[in-house]
Amino acid sequence: MAWPVLAQTAAPAVSGTAQVNASITAPERAALCMACHGPGGVSQTPAIPSLAAQPRVFIENQLVLIREGLRDIPAMKGSLDGVPDAELTALARYFSAQPAPAPAKGTVDAQSFQRGKELAKSALCGTCHLPSHQGRDQVPRLASQQEQFLRDVMKEYRDKPGPGRDTVMAAALYGINDAQLKDLAHFFAHSP
Ligand code: HEC
Ligand code: HEC
Repeated sequence: MAWPVLAQTAAPAVSGTAQVNASITAPERAALCMACHGPGGVSQTPAIPSLAAQPRVFIENQLVLIREGLRDIPAMKGSLDGVPDAELTALARYFSAQPAPAPAKGTVDAQSFQRGKELAKSALCGTCHLPSHQGRDQVPRLASQQEQFLRDVMKEYRDKPGPGRDTVMAAALYGINDAQLKDLAHFFAHSP
């Protein structure tokens, strides 16, 4: 893990940008987030994850990783520069308290759904993500997440995990092929 990067990027937290950013209140910043992550943190965009009902600790951890540049999200680059920890905590608390998204609309491919369900069971995804796939602590919710985002993020964990990504996920997806990732994503997206 590239923790030295953390030490380097922590220093400019007192710059002018930090003060500009810090002058926005948490609800105001949450409104900025919802422009992409959807009203109440329920995403309306295939490649953007819902934040609603994600475990607070998961959101908080990811926000720190994103702010420090350890999780590289081009769309969010710079948007958390200098935002203090307390505010990241407030954002995490806000989004985790929102009602969970409804399962994906659109047609369910019953066979793909079933294959995904069986694979999730045999690969023991539920031991960490919980059998309901609602997540807990640092483990994210998968149920009713955006299907395309799930597919993209699993591919990334499997093929090219960035420095801030948890290695347990690369291990969990080792040997799982693209067709199976598609089935898993279809199953989770359509699970309540
Ligand atoms: C310009 C669009 C945009 C804005 C504004 C934005 N995000 Fe994001 N965010 C994204 C995208 C795209 C991803 C997914 C990136 C990926 O593929 O891994 C993401 C990912 C995340 C994740 C990781 C979620 C997960 O399930 O892995 C969190 C947490 C997050 N954003 C929180 C926020 C918060 C809080 C704000 C407001 C301060 C915000 N975002 C503003 C586009 C945006
Ligand atoms: C040993 C515990 C563990 C197991 C087993 C596990 N996961 Fe995970 N998963 C995690 C953790 C922890 C994270 C957050 C990783 C991070 O911070 O980079 C995660 C993240 C994810 C994400 C990203 C979601 C998001 O919103 O960013 C997906 C998708 C996912 N896991 C799917 C799966 C699937 C599918 C399986 C079974 C094949 C599985 N996981 C098995 C612990 C686990």
